[in-house]
Order: sequence, then structure tokens, then C-alpha cells
Amino acid sequence: MQDASGKRASQQSPKQNNSNTPKMKIDVLLGLQWGDEGKGKVVDVLTPRYDVVARFQGGPNAGHTLEFDGKKYVLRSIPSGIFQHGQTNIIGNGVVLDPVLFKEEAEALERSGIDLRKVLKISKKVHLILPTHRLLDAANEKAKGGAKIGTTGKGIGPTYTDKISRNGLRLGDTLHNFEAKYAAARDRHLRMLASLGETPDLSELEPRWIEAINYLKSFDIIDSEHYVNRCLQEGKSVLCEGAQGTLLDVDFGSYPFVTSSNTVAAGACTGLGVAPNKIGEVFGIFKAYCTRVGSGPFPTELFDETGKKIRDIGHEYGAVTGRERRCGWIDLVALRYAIMINGVTQLIMMKSDVLDTFPTIKACTAYKINGELTRDFPYSIEEDTIEPVYEELPGWQTDMTAMKSENEFPQQFADYIKFLERELATPITIVSIGPDREQTILRNK
Ligand code: GDP
Ligand code: IMO
Ligand code: MG
Repeated sequence: MQDASGKRASQQSPKQNNSNTPKMKIDVLLGLQWGDEGKGKVVDVLTPRYDVVARFQGGPNAGHTLEFDGKKYVLRSIPSGIFQHGQTNIIGNGVVLDPVLFKEEAEALERSGIDLRKVLKISKKVHLILPTHRLLDAANEKAKGGAKIGTTGKGIGPTYTDKISRNGLRLGDTLHNFEAKYAAARDRHLRMLASLGETPDLSELEPRWIEAINYLKSFDIIDSEHYVNRCLQEGKSVLCEGAQGTLLDVDFGSYPFVTSSNTVAAGACTGLGVAPNKIGEVFGIFKAYCTRVGSGPFPTELFDETGKKIRDIGHEYGAVTGRERRCGWIDLVALRYAIMINGVTQLIMMKSDVLDTFPTIKACTAYKINGELTRDFPYSIEEDTIEPVYEELPGWQTDMTAMKSENEFPQQFADYIKFLERELATPITIVSIGPDREQTILRNK
């Protein structure tokens, strides 16, 4: 629901609205597949409806791409709401931040004319990625050999490990006696690295990191849980921007080939300090097909010319690492699971245009496991135990990239949307037909 200014209007009934309950709920936008669904683009498109945009988990393993006015930006740690009209952007407590990569990202944005200090606030409770975390990430991967996860190499796993084992360093720690805390963490990591046969030289990495810490400290560092709840209390609207995707969630993803945070809607509660009953709309975003970077099972993966065609037309190469993304047909078993875990209220379908030239399109509607059909996502999705069952639909074979409204959609595409809505029992309210901000069709629910 929107008010005249286009902002989301108060979402609670008058009965609920006493002095202890906030006027507003937070909306969450998150990926339903293995990441790279197009979250950055849609957060940018939705930002004018909101007062605040917040990241709640992940770190610079994310690469969120935005395109407008012929320019392209890739954001890693900074929320995708910074390019609109002065909304407040928050890096919440659930995020892990690499000061060096943050500085690079922030300086590039400042050079392109964004007054970042005016629009960005960072939680005191974000955990810091140390240079030795990145080294540990690489050493752990090396030690796993053929069983490696194929991480982004940004130190994500070791940083969250330190957080959970209560050894982490938080941004708030930089305010008091930081040098000693840093030295203790670094020395602990060096001992771990030595046990993995690594004796790194930190003479260049360390001063650069310390310099970046000082840069980071020049930003507005806040108690973001208080800030966000106060915003809700004052009737401000908040959009939370997920990173990675549901199938990379540490609990519900294809473990152990996952990231180290909760990427699901519940992660917005812990990653920002908002209560579960304050979650409003949950926008679940997916590609019209499916991709994955790194190792791990992928039941609908295509190893043939069709997979290559999707990769070529969809430019499916990682925004962070440049790695080839593995491509396959859409997996409705996995999507139904992701919709359930997240409580998705609206679906957003991305990259529909990539399938514009395909004569037919397949969608996996069930899995056959040991000869038995199931529509429920199982404990393990190892390829050798699962056979995807496909429904084949006619392609639309029409260039959709310049379309402005759903009335222009070819019949076969309209039918494809109807088919997905029926299979997923959730409305598709936004359809993306190209990477640019303008190539976005809002549908009537
Ligand atoms: P994110 O991590 O979820 O923000 O997604 P990424 O930015 O990693 O990957 C999405 C890629 O697809 C980016 O290169 C986008 O510019 C691009 N993209 C987003 N939406 C569309 C679309 O509808 N069509 C096409 N062709 N490209 C899109
Ligand atoms: P966005 O936000 C796609 C994958 C890595 C690897 C696994 C673990 O752009 O969608 P990590 O470095 O997190 O320990 O790696 O997770 N991965 C992503 N894949 N998009 C991402 O982010 C990803 N972030 C991590 O490839 O398989
Ligand atoms: Mg990405």
C-alpha cells in the first residue's frame, strides 16, 4: 500500500497501534535461489517507496549490480538504496565488513558524486574482516582440496566463525583500546595459519587495513537497532536488502556448500535487531532460470549447449570474482521451499528477457528420488540421488526488453507467469526484462 508520496503507508490496524507497537513494519527483499538473482537492481527500483534501506547479513561476498543512465555500479557492502533521493542507508549488525574493501567501494562512490557520509550509517556491532580472515579463508579452502566450497575468498566463513565462537572484533571495538584487541586476534589467526602450514607476510596488508579502519571511523557509527526501531516508531518505512540467497543459507541451504550467515527473512530480525512481528512484506526474488557459483549440488544444472546459451545471453559471470556461473532450468521444488522458509508475500521474476529467443522452456516441478516423486525439497539434493521432473512450456520468441507494461507481454509469456504463480501459489508483482532500472514492469496484483 502506498500513500500519495509513493511511500509505503502505515501497515497496522488502529487496534494494534498503541504506544508500544510501532506504526510501521519492515519489508524484506531477498534471493530465493543461489544468489545473484538481481537484488541490487530491484532494491534500487523500490527505494523511492522507502525512507531507509538496510543490509542485514553477508559482506563483500555480495556483488549487487545496478544500471541506470548508461552507467553500471557493483555494490558489495553498501546498501543499494544510495543512488535514489537521499534515503538513509544502514549497514546492520549482522553484516561483516572488510575495512579495506569498504574504503575502496566508498571512495569510488564518492568520486562519482555520492555524498556517502550524508546517507550512510553503520552499526557498531558489525564484525570486522581482518586480513588474516581472508588468509584463513584461502588456507581452509586449500586444506579441503577437492571438497572445497568455492568461496568468494573474502574471509566470510572465518569472520562469522569468530563471531559465533566469541572471538570476533566489532566496529565498536575500534573506539577503545583497539590495538591490543587487534593484535590478540591477529596472533591467534597466525597460530591457526601456521597449523595449516601458512606463514604469511603481513607487512603490506596490515598498515593498509589500519588506515582503512581510520577511514571507516570517519562515518556515522551508530546503535543501529535503536535507530531502526525508532524509525519504525516514527512511521518511517524500511526496506531490508538480503545478500546471497536462500539456497546459500547456513541452515536451510545446500549445506556445507553455503555461506556462513542466515540469508533468510529471519536473518533480518537478528541482523538488524527488529522483532519477528515487525516484518511486513517479504519480496522473494528469482531468475526465470537458475544459476550457481562455486561448488555444491544443483539438480537442474545444464551441461549442454542450452546451459551455455543461458550463460552467454545472461552474461552469467560473477560480479565479485568474475567466475563462470553454472546455469540450469528454474527449480520450482527449491522455490516452493524458499517461499515457505521466508514467508514470501510477493515474487519478483528477473532476467525473463534472457529466455526471449528460446523455442521452449523447461521448469522442474518435482524431483524423482529413488523412483518416488516428491514436490518437497529434501534433506540432500546431491545430483546422483535426484532426477528433476520437467514440464516443458512454449517459448515466447519475442524481444521483451523495450516493453513498458504487462499489456505488451506475448501470450506465451503471460501464460508462463500464470503457470509459475499457480505452481508457487504466490503472486509475481514485478517482472524484470533487462538490467536497467527502466526495464522493470510493475504488475497489478
Ligand atoms: P544480485 O547479487 O542479486 O544483486 O545480482 P547480481 O548483480 O550479482 O547479478 C545480476 C546480474 O543480472 C547483473 O549483471 C544485473 O545487471 C543483471 N540483471 C538484473 N536484472 C536483469 C534482467 O532483468 N535482465 C538481464 N538481462 N539482466 C539483468
Ligand atoms: P550476492 O549477494 C552468489 C557463494 C560462493 C560460495 C558460497 C560460500 O551477490 O547474491 P562465501 O564467500 O560466502 O563463504 O562463499 O557462497 N556466494 C555467492 N554466490 N552470489 C552471492 O552474493 C554469493 N555470496 C557467496 O560462490 O559458493
Ligand atoms: Mg551478486
